[in-house]
Amino acid sequence: MADHTRARVLVASNRGPVSFSSAPDGSLTLKRGGGGLVSGLSAIEDPNTVWVCAALGEADRTAARRSPQGRLDQGGFDVGGQAVRMLDIDPEVFDQAYNGVANSTLWFLHHLLYNTPTAPVFDATAAAQWTAFESYNAAFAQALAAEAAPGAAVLVQDYHLTLVPALLRELRPDLRIGYFLHIPWAPADYFQLLPEELARAVLTGVLGADRAGFHTRRWAEAFADCCEQVLDAKIISGAGARNELSVSYQGRTTKLGVHALGADADFLRERAHRADVDERLAALREAVGGCRTIVRVDRTELSKNIVRGLQAYRHLLRSRPQWRERVVHIAFAYPSRQDLAEYRDYTAAVRRLSEEITEEFATDSWQPLILQVEDDFARSLAAYRLADVALVNPIRDGMNLVAKEVPVVSDAGCALVLSREAGAHAELADDALSINPYDVIGTAEALHRALTMPTAERAERTARLAAAATALPPQQWFLAQLAELSA
Ligand code: G6P
Repeated sequence: MADHTRARVLVASNRGPVSFSSAPDGSLTLKRGGGGLVSGLSAIEDPNTVWVCAALGEADRTAARRSPQGRLDQGGFDVGGQAVRMLDIDPEVFDQAYNGVANSTLWFLHHLLYNTPTAPVFDATAAAQWTAFESYNAAFAQALAAEAAPGAAVLVQDYHLTLVPALLRELRPDLRIGYFLHIPWAPADYFQLLPEELARAVLTGVLGADRAGFHTRRWAEAFADCCEQVLDAKIISGAGARNELSVSYQGRTTKLGVHALGADADFLRERAHRADVDERLAALREAVGGCRTIVRVDRTELSKNIVRGLQAYRHLLRSRPQWRERVVHIAFAYPSRQDLAEYRDYTAAVRRLSEEITEEFATDSWQPLILQVEDDFARSLAAYRLADVALVNPIRDGMNLVAKEVPVVSDAGCALVLSREAGAHAELADDALSINPYDVIGTAEALHRALTMPTAERAERTARLAAAATALPPQQWFLAQLAELSA
């Protein structure tokens, strides 16, 4: 018999579709998030879906506590017609799970960010963080088990929830469980920096899913390699054009899917032509005063490689002085994860180098660099429209949507300098200028080539990049995974 009180489709992610801030008088303001997952989920015209997420701060926790079982939609909050269950996890547990394991250990591992002579260190502190990570994942599994109708489809998102598929399967073997990783997967040697017990827990956690999805074949293969080397699991290459990989372990099989999230063209083109963006575009035009522009937009994130990007720009101005007073680098580096010392230090390094570049090259009539650190989406879109060159040079990146958004929004064509280590490179390599993200001189040369690319070629490449970037829009991306899970 159908269960009409429980959900047939569920999504789980650490950061949910809404967040709250509180005023001094205690009133809560709700903000709706954007991004692929939110727009993907809005494609399901089934009110019987539930999104399970974590309360990320005190205001979120207050909202969750004011709602029965954390169900915001039943607590009087307008969450856009969606059912959202926000988990009020003990702040100490949340901090250890989110900052200690997800954003330090797992993020650093999969993005190859460790400076290995000193890190990682798996000591008693790390062990306590891991215990917290287990209970944070268990809280998600329990909430999903409670909300899901018999045989429901559950789509678990990202590295924060890496243990959830297996935990949930134990509680509810009737469910169809999908997992999607939005970040890269580390190569097997590097992955085995983790103590064996943790490495096994991460892999068997994911293998609790019926299907595990990645943005590129490369990350799926890396995951399969780890399963083979650490668990001695069997890897099966499927027949057919897609040649899907499967991992067989302890009598169960998990299929690995490749679903390259695309940019949302309709949303971006409409949003990029609203008045607030036009205003910011006019201001940026004035600031660059007729110079060519090299644009980058990132969170201030170690893996985004902002410092080497600035070094490359400095090298360009040193080695090819003809660009002085003719180009401006617009760098938007928005705050991120400031609870972590590495991120605070990195933010300081970005600022320091920006100041050095300005000191070295600025003239009375020319600022070589505009660095902005306050998050402003409308201004990012304005910069996308204006850019002659976009610089996307991550050390590693699961996908990188900036690389996909710029060609869609660009007014007159934009040359894309793109790291070969971004997931987006798999689809955009033909028309981007590929770089090795560690090679500062090579990056500077690519910037020069991008700046000198003939206008017609730039426009043609941009059109092809935009087509490739929008091949799988968020709604289709989401619905395809749901359909495969239900098949
Ligand atoms: C990036 C990653 C996502 C991840 C998110 C978390 O955008 O690509 O995979 O979920 O960071 O960021 P947060 O601000 O929630 O820590």
